[in-house]
Amino acid sequence: MITALDHIAIAVPDFEGAVKRFMEDFGLPFEGTEDVASAKTSTAFFPLPPTSIELVHPLNGEGPIAKYLEKRGGGLHHLCFRTDNIDEDVARLQKKGYQFLSEAPTPGAHGARVIFIHPKCCDGVLIELSQPSDNH
Ligand code: CO
Repeated sequence: MITALDHIAIAVPDFEGAVKRFMEDFGLPFEGTEDVASAKTSTAFFPLPPTSIELVHPLNGEGPIAKYLEKRGGGLHHLCFRTDNIDEDVARLQKKGYQFLSEAPTPGAHGARVIFIHPKCCDGVLIELSQPSDNH
């Protein structure tokens, strides 16, 4: 079941500059950065309860975020729904015809299990489902 808007993600070409902007100009609390090797993405999280802002940047200059930035420049990248049972939600949505960008959930930031719904299923919006790890 979807339980919260976990975060909103922005793709940024200048990672350090964007972190500085959100930290110093906007004054948001900065939780730190985390590289997610499975997604070839560097992330930075700014908790703004009950949700967060996530900045995403290509890890080592490659991967899906690199392609996104090449094609469109920086911008709103995805929003993420928190779920209390990702396997159940994926199965339920697959039955309704939703397509996913991977076969099964993969490891995301903070040890969560995540999967992305194909944007063509949601009017062009990329939606991530995330089930937090038990210790988060
Ligand atoms: Co995300």
